[in-house]
Amino acid sequence: MAILCPSTAIYHLLFSSLLLFFSCYVSGIPVYGAEEGKDGFHSTPVSSLLPKNKCSTSARGGSQGLPITQKYGPCSGSGHSQPPSPQEIFGRDESRVSFINSKGNQYTSGNLKNHAHNNNLFDEDGNFLVDVAFGTPPQKFKLILDTGSSITWIQCKACVNCLQDSHRYFNWSASSTYSFGSCIPGTVENNYNMTYGDDSTSVGNYGCDTMTLEPSDVFQKFQFGCGRNNKGDFGSGVDGVLGLGQGQLSTVSQTASKFNKVFSYCLPEEDSIGSLLFGEKATSQSSSLKFTSLVNGPGTSGLDESEYYFVKLLDISVGNKRLNIPSSVFASSGTIIDSGTVISRLPQRAYSALKDAFKKAMAKYPLFNGRRKKGDILDTCYNLTGTKDALVPEIVLHFGEGADVRLNEKRVFSGNTSCRCLAFAGTFAGTSNFTIIGSTQQLSLTVLYDIPGRRIGFGAMVAPSET
Ligand SMILES: *[C@@H]1O[C@H](CO)[C@@H](O)[C@H](O)[C@H]1NC(C)=O
Ligand SMILES: *[C@@H]1O[C@H](CO)[C@@H](O)[C@H](O)[C@H]1NC(C)=O
Ligand SMILES: *[C@@H]1O[C@H](CO)[C@@H](O)[C@H](O)[C@H]1NC(C)=O
Ligand SMILES: *[C@@H]1O[C@H](CO)[C@@H](O)[C@H](O)[C@H]1NC(C)=O
Ligand SMILES: *[C@@H]1O[C@H](CO)[C@@H](O)[C@H](O)[C@H]1NC(C)=O
Repeated sequence: MAILCPSTAIYHLLFSSLLLFFSCYVSGIPVYGAEEGKDGFHSTPVSSLLPKNKCSTSARGGSQGLPITQKYGPCSGSGHSQPPSPQEIFGRDESRVSFINSKGNQYTSGNLKNHAHNNNLFDEDGNFLVDVAFGTPPQKFKLILDTGSSITWIQCKACVNCLQDSHRYFNWSASSTYSFGSCIPGTVENNYNMTYGDDSTSVGNYGCDTMTLEPSDVFQKFQFGCGRNNKGDFGSGVDGVLGLGQGQLSTVSQTASKFNKVFSYCLPEEDSIGSLLFGEKATSQSSSLKFTSLVNGPGTSGLDESEYYFVKLLDISVGNKRLNIPSSVFASSGTIIDSGTVISRLPQRAYSALKDAFKKAMAKYPLFNGRRKKGDILDTCYNLTGTKDALVPEIVLHFGEGADVRLNEKRVFSGNTSCRCLAFAGTFAGTSNFTIIGSTQQLSLTVLYDIPGRRIGFGAMVAPSET
């Protein structure tokens, strides 16, 4: 059977003979039919594609860890602002991608050294939120989970420009354990200034205080940014960013004594709740995952110099057929796994091959022929109105060491029933051509980051005999 997020005995009991896809938790009733695996197609009831306005979590499946919600989904509890349009989301996504690529150019032009010590540049936001508390007694905040940032920051008391939509700020006077400035040996800077890809900024000072992830996971003297001048649109109910990159100040580094730089997440669909696990809790999932190596970023000689998490993508399949893309197409600039990019980006050559094969496999469905809006980055869309069950080709991402990540309908498409689009885009010319595996393709999938083991694990197919 297919395992996605935390595999539980319940799945096995209920559905042991079927090949099914699940959302993160038991409460996510399977929406995919038993066609999976049959010639590499999934039969998907089109009715399951309708927008979900209710949080469908009767239970979080007995799972541990920090709950993750989608920023604009019904489970975030912060939905007081209008969700952005797809075009707005894509616009921000493009900003993030060009920002990541501009850093890539810095790597390859040998400016990495400057760059590695430059905390001024950070990326655009992501769509997934977790609650984290700071101070004594703890004050709770909603932070964006970002594997592409190395600094954690929260909005602080007396912000000059405060985040739109956030009603919370950290009041350090109310914390008995707060200290101003840096507290990590070897770091001296007291101020930080982060510019994101879309001109969002957060400027403030560093502070140190107790950080509480869960009641059993409390870290003294955690250094974070105290944002006082925050500009831009980080989105509904967002109070800051949880940096899960590899830098010295990242949450991963600052909790290493307890968690040994291992974490995993399961990014939820809009109407469910995912989870972020650290240390042992993450490691305990290992036996059900398939691993690929973490590799150095281009132009770097060590993992810790790569700001992003690089892996090796080798090829892609559509409906059980390999596209046979020369792996040099991906290898020339590298492949990043990112929680903050929404739509995966492929080098043009790979994207064209994917699109052609996908169109062939979807030939019996009408292409969307409505007007495309400015800012759309997706160009292969179908009008599935009037279709009851769509037979959608499975896309498989073949990573190094045999780690195959299977993408069901939910991870293949983005958009509504009348305009359902292949959720991949080509990287545009003129920048470095990072392949980026974005959050749409990671939905409901356990992704484990094992930095000392130099590997990334994906929830993958378990052989039928094991179920
Ligand atoms: C911050 O906390 C202090 C100490 O508890 C309190 O006196 C002050 O009113 C709080 N400030 C704000 C803006 O909430
Ligand atoms: C923060 O950095 C940006 C970009 O480098 C710069 O334009 C801005 O003036 C800086 N702000 C402060 C307060 O240092
Ligand atoms: C989608 O298809 C339906 C049924 O064929 C049609 O009525 C509708 O106008 C189409 N919508 C768009 C946006 O093309
Ligand atoms: C579906 O998406 C298309 C493209 O973004 C948009 O034009 C259309 O209004 C949407 N339809 C519905 C029913 O939301
Ligand atoms: C990106 O790909 C294009 C087309 O293959 C190529 O011309 C360009 O040199 C590449 N850019 C970088 C920075 O690798």
